[in-house]
Amino acid sequence: MVELVPSILSADFARLADEVAAAERGGGTVIHCDVMDGHFVPNITLGPPVIKSLRKATTLPLDCHLMIENANDYIPAFADAGANWISVHFEACTHLHRTIELIHDHGLHAGVVLNPATRLEVLSEILPMLHHVLIMSVNPGFGGQKFIPHSLEKIRKLAAWRKELGLAFRIEVDGGIAHDTVGQVVQAGAELLVAGNAVFGDGKAEENARALLADARKAAGEIS
Ligand code: DX5
Ligand code: ZN
Repeated sequence: MVELVPSILSADFARLADEVAAAERGGGTVIHCDVMDGHFVPNITLGPPVIKSLRKATTLPLDCHLMIENANDYIPAFADAGANWISVHFEACTHLHRTIELIHDHGLHAGVVLNPATRLEVLSEILPMLHHVLIMSVNPGFGGQKFIPHSLEKIRKLAAWRKELGLAFRIEVDGGIAHDTVGQVVQAGAELLVAGNAVFGDGKAEENARALLADARKAAGEIS
């Protein structure tokens, strides 16, 4: 089943609880929280205190996308704050297996994120450990960027690989997901659809989420 995963990066941070509630009313079922450190990516966003506040504002799973160096130093704090899913970048983790184990040790779902230039094959040794694989369809760091079309082929390959191996990890896509792209990513095999600007960009999160999810479900053949 496809799920809409609103990314709070484009929300009004002064009204975060209301924004998240609106996205949930519109059909969002997981909340995506972009954590940026100003080193791995050229932007700075939020940390565990915001996750802790959000935890009180919603019962939806909090999907923390860590775009940071030294993730191992911060995973315990995100777990304590109330994160449910933590994904780390292949490109930022020297000892990726250890990092995934650390996420598991805290009782959380672990995911790995691949930048647009990183090939899928780097995941071969750790795929069975993963709850989700996040395919970046823009270069990480900013909301509102243009979808990179090559991501479709990567999602298709990953979905075929999953089938071949008989694994159950979920395929998430992040970056440039909007009305003009959501159908294609769903048809390629993505099922967790992160959307920031398309949901929160204009202050109408509920309507936007509802319309985007409807497009996704149509593309998946879940509704007509
Ligand atoms: C970008 C972030 C995304 C971002 C997507 O580095 O990882 O989650 O919010 O934003 P849109 O949907 O606006 O491309
Ligand atoms: Zn993200």
